[in-house]
Amino acid sequence: MSLALIPGSFDPMTVGHLDIVKRTLSLYDEVVVAVMVNDQKTYEHTLAERAEMAKLTVAGLDRVRVVTSAGLLIDLFDELGADVIVKGIRNEVDRAYEEKMAAWNLEHNPRAVTVFLQAADDYEQVNSTHVRELIKAGKSPDSLVVPAVVDYLRDRGELSNL
Ligand code: PNS
Repeated sequence: MSLALIPGSFDPMTVGHLDIVKRTLSLYDEVVVAVMVNDQKTYEHTLAERAEMAKLTVAGLDRVRVVTSAGLLIDLFDELGADVIVKGIRNEVDRAYEEKMAAWNLEHNPRAVTVFLQAADDYEQVNSTHVRELIKAGKSPDSLVVPAVVDYLRDRGELSNL
């Protein structure tokens, strides 16, 4: 059984992330989505809220589960017995940033190899920052997240002006 670990902030998980999860499922037996903490970021949603939105996004997909961790990715990798870390790459900016993280992880855990999946053209412009910007501008993010996440945000009053 091969296990792929897809870590991220997921604030919130987008349809672009979902596409990466689906394509990872075609390559590995099992996928664990790990909702984690990036110390360089300030979050709009708590770890638990981000995990809830990730669960809503992957609901219905067999062989996928969502976990949270506020620790190091390399430690989670060992705890889960993962075989590979998978990250989606949209552009050169992503690639430069992800390569640095992948190198750091590999240096500190030689088993923790990262595989990069190029985002499909349709999802190149999709990112969590756009979702948060749309909400702040009073627009619905419904082309960027799954309907269940739109409902979740609405139920929380984040889309109350829509
Ligand atoms: O979606 P993001 O913000 O690009 O995800 C980055 C994330 C959360 C995967 C990364 O910051 C991470 O692995 N955080 C866990 C803590 C850790 O292992 N830090 C050292 C790696 S540079």
